[in-house]
Order: sequence, then C-alpha cells, then structure tokens
Amino acid sequence: MLALIGGSGFSGPGVLTDTETVEIDTPYGAPSAPIVLGKLGGTPVAFLLRHGPGHRFAPHTVPYRANLWALKKLGVEGVVGVATVGGIAGPLGPGGIAVPDQLIDYTWGREVTYYDRPEAGVKHVDMTHPFDRGLREELIAAAAALGKDLMTEGTYACTQGPRLETAAEVRRYARDGADMIGMTLYPECALARELDLPYAGICVSVNHAAGMGDSKDEIDFESLHDVVERAVAKVVEVVEETLRR
Ligand code: HPA
Repeated sequence: MLALIGGSGFSGPGVLTDTETVEIDTPYGAPSAPIVLGKLGGTPVAFLLRHGPGHRFAPHTVPYRANLWALKKLGVEGVVGVATVGGIAGPLGPGGIAVPDQLIDYTWGREVTYYDRPEAGVKHVDMTHPFDRGLREELIAAAAALGKDLMTEGTYACTQGPRLETAAEVRRYARDGADMIGMTLYPECALARELDLPYAGICVSVNHAAGMGDSKDEIDFESLHDVVERAVAKVVEVVEETLRR
C-alpha cells in the first residue's frame, strides 16, 4: 500500500471512500492528524493531512518526523508527497504540475533526522537523487496514460516560510537552478530516506513565484482559486491512476 501526504484535494468529500482513521503514536509525538485508511478509485491507500485539521501546522511546525515514522509503522511501501509550489520554470504558471527530480534545502531549525542522539548512532543517507526514481516513473507513466501534461523533472527549492519570498530571493533561487519553490518536501524526503521508504513528490503550482510571471505584482492566491482547484483535481487523477496500475 502507498501513502499520500497532502492537503485538501484528498480530504474533500467523496475523494477517499471506505475510510477509517487510525491514531498512531510515535517516539516523536503524534502525527499531524490521524491517518485515514481508505480507497482512492477503489485502490487502498493511507492518507495523512500534512497541515493537520484546520490547517493548524505551518510548514515549519509540521511534525515531519512523527508523520514519516507513523507511516513506516503502518507498513506502507512508499509515500507520495503532494505539495503546492510557486513556479519559476516556464511550464509552472498557476495550474502547472511537476514531478521534481532534485531539491535544494533552504530551511533552518527543522527536525530533519532520526539520528540526533548518541544512542541512535550516525547515519549519512545518500541523497544524490532525493526522490525515488521508481515512484517518480510511476507517477509520470500514470500521467502519460491519462494524457495529462506535467513537468517530468525539475528542482524544488524548499524555503522555511511561512512567509513567501522576496523577488530578490526568488531571483537567487532561480540562479541556483530552482524551477519551483515550496515549503514542505524537505525534510519529508530525507526522513523517508532514513526509514528506507521510497518517496516522490508531485507539485501543483498555485502562483508564479514572487516577481516572476508577467504582472510582477504581489501574489494573490484568491484570484487563482479555480485554476488551482482544476490542477489539484488533475493531481488526484494522476495519483489514482498510479495506485491502480
Ligand atoms: N513560495 C513558497 N511556497 C509556496 C509558494 C511560493 O510562492 N506557493 C505555494 N507554496
């Protein structure tokens, strides 16, 4: 069984069926929310609401260690992290979708490892390819089978948030090679790697990153609501097809 970590696209009415919730405790406290076991398009899946009920965890306060630990304890075979981004690369205007293949971490002060005490020992996980290649290929193949357009690679810059970036920061991230900016896939991907859980991200652009795009204006999420809803629905379809295959 695969697990999804994501937001409202999957928790809305009628998306997951046959649901039951399980409370799982971990040495790192409780996960963001009880885990929902259910079916997506008829296929069993575990779903974890990353920001918790009522969106109470900001990106830098999400209990990432508890979340991944709980999913591992549940016995899932892989994790797909669904996340919104601000787009830098051309195809990532609002509503664009990407399966990133690289990541740059700009966060600070987060709990990013299970190896943080002498008793736990030291482990340096390999992160050359931060996202699981097999799981990425499955997402990309599912999108292709559905005829859905998405960016099949790209570098995800993970910022600390919760504030959005300045235009100069975005220019710097673009110079660094970033194609999209978000706040949550790190440390998710690294913790999954420490637990030997294949992990891939699928990202929905909800805005041009600050200062990008034609208007160069301030970011107005409200005006983009419909575009984003349609893109999130597309991601749900791609994930559903991935599970089915
Ligand atoms: N920056 C960082 N994270 C985001 C953005 C952004 O512009 N949009 C959605 N998540």
